Amino acid sequence: MKILSAAGVCEVSLWDSDEPVQREELLRGVQGAHGLLCLLSDKIDAEVLDAAGPNLKVISTLSVGFDHMALDEIKKRGIRVGYTPDVLTDATAELTVALLLSAARRLPEGVEEVKNGGWSSWKPLWLCGYGLSGSTVGVIGLGRIGMAIARRLVPFGVKRLLYSGRTAKAHAAEVNGEFVPLDTLLAESDFVVVSCSLTPETQGLCDKAFFSKMKNTAVFVNSSRGTVVNQEDLHEALTSGKIAAAGLDVTTPEPLPTNHPLLALKNCVVLPHIGSATYSTRGIMGALSAQNLLGGLQGTDMPSELTF
Ligand code: NDP
Ligand code: DGY
Repeated sequence: MKILSAAGVCEVSLWDSDEPVQREELLRGVQGAHGLLCLLSDKIDAEVLDAAGPNLKVISTLSVGFDHMALDEIKKRGIRVGYTPDVLTDATAELTVALLLSAARRLPEGVEEVKNGGWSSWKPLWLCGYGLSGSTVGVIGLGRIGMAIARRLVPFGVKRLLYSGRTAKAHAAEVNGEFVPLDTLLAESDFVVVSCSLTPETQGLCDKAFFSKMKNTAVFVNSSRGTVVNQEDLHEALTSGKIAAAGLDVTTPEPLPTNHPLLALKNCVVLPHIGSATYSTRGIMGALSAQNLLGGLQGTDMPSELTF
């Protein structure tokens, strides 16, 4: 808001709450707007674009993910899009590593046992989990965040770093990454980390067949988008012992209902989509999304414009 006010080039109509704007309110509020700054929880589809009308020149999202936006409709209308890549990469990678370690070393279970009196004494096999040292890690989507996760995991003593995706990446050399078919990654990895973007191709990628190819001692981690995972199949894989544990920062839906079967499992750690949630990162994302909006409104360069 400070950046937008200081620029003095626009009037701002603000949904002044941390809670998502109601759809009706969004459809009403966007009418006639030249720019829209939105969150990943706002579905920007033809209905919103039609409600906005022909003035709309720019949409700036406070996220790097853009799967909540109907890009084909946006393109048709010649609207520019700003997003927030890079500035949240470190925070999201850090959180993903924390989630991986929490699931692999059973941290929430341990904390719970300390609180509920389940900690009776030191016991040889109690709360044992899986360690990274000497392990094989598979990263699905070695993009900005996937690479930052790999960089952080390698110093734990990871022996092999496998990755899969559409194309081999030159930057993989820095972590000795081996580009392999997905099936090889699933069969050989002790940790499978999903950090790809959500596309029609990756939607539902992690399903029954996917989990059945993993080792039964393997840990699955997803910090991309919830719908990359078929949660019923994940639940089955976790309860039948097909895989050892899972850590999810993203789910379908968000929030996950408190009575969801995944939340009853000790071997599933679920976080409320907090990958980029550091004060500093969110501040930088906010500033970048304001600058993107201004660039679009003024017809100048945006610091981070999405090309599509
Ligand atoms: P990038 O675009 O840098 O990386 C996305 C990667 O996904 C690319 O390497 C791409 O590979 C890969 N990919 C695309 N299709 C496939 C596929 N079919 N199989 C495997 N890999 C595929 O984006 P970022 O790393 O910046 O962000 C990735 C995603 O992380 C975001 O889209 C968002 O959904 C999520 N995210 C979640 C956060 C959280 O809070 N949990 C925070 C920030 C982001 P290729 O180049 O070969 O196409
Ligand atoms: C994104 O930016 O796409 C995340 O999911 C939230 O930071």
